[in-house]
Amino acid sequence: MGKGELENHVQYRESGCVFKADLEHIFLSPRLAYERMRIAKKVFPGETIINMFAGVGCFSILIAKVQPRTKIYSIDVNPHAYEYMKENVTLNKVEGKVIPILGDAKEEAEKLEGVADRILMPLPEQAHAFLPSAVRALHLDKGGAVGGTGVRGVIHLRCFYGKER
Ligand SMILES: C[S@@+](CC[C@H](N)C(=O)[O-])C[C@H]1O[C@@H](n2cnc3c(N)ncnc32)[C@H](O)[C@@H]1O
Repeated sequence: MGKGELENHVQYRESGCVFKADLEHIFLSPRLAYERMRIAKKVFPGETIINMFAGVGCFSILIAKVQPRTKIYSIDVNPHAYEYMKENVTLNKVEGKVIPILGDAKEEAEKLEGVADRILMPLPEQAHAFLPSAVRALHLDKGGAVGGTGVRGVIHLRCFYGKER
């Protein structure tokens, strides 16, 4: 998909950011605005973050605006979402902070082994299946409380529970 194909888009404003997206091919929900800000406010300066299901970059870009001393690897498998994410990164002037990556979350997270302080998994129906890759992407913590080697960091896992879907 080329840049010239980004034509049938809407432009959506949220919390001081602007997001372009083509709603025919991409998920974008204003209902997540509160959740995006809730998470952005939890981020500490200097964190490295992986957003495994980044869409057009809404979580990642808002985090980079709220906490500019961060690096957020932002993965999406949908080429449409990836192209819009790149454009949204430029529009919101967060180049070098939000790093768009086109690919499967499992494969790409495994390339980022041991780098993350925080991982976002906003794909409610399937995110749990990607948990082992997410855990491997967290920082290694040598000599933790029990003296062994573990991982250290936060995972924001969005999932449905309580009902069969
Ligand atoms: C619910 S949307 C995420 C929305 C986004 N976080 C936001 O705030 O607008 C889920 C995204 O996950 C992507 N996705 C689904 N399976 C994936 C996979 N295996 N690897 C990477 N991205 C995937 C979809 O293309 C979609 O953009």
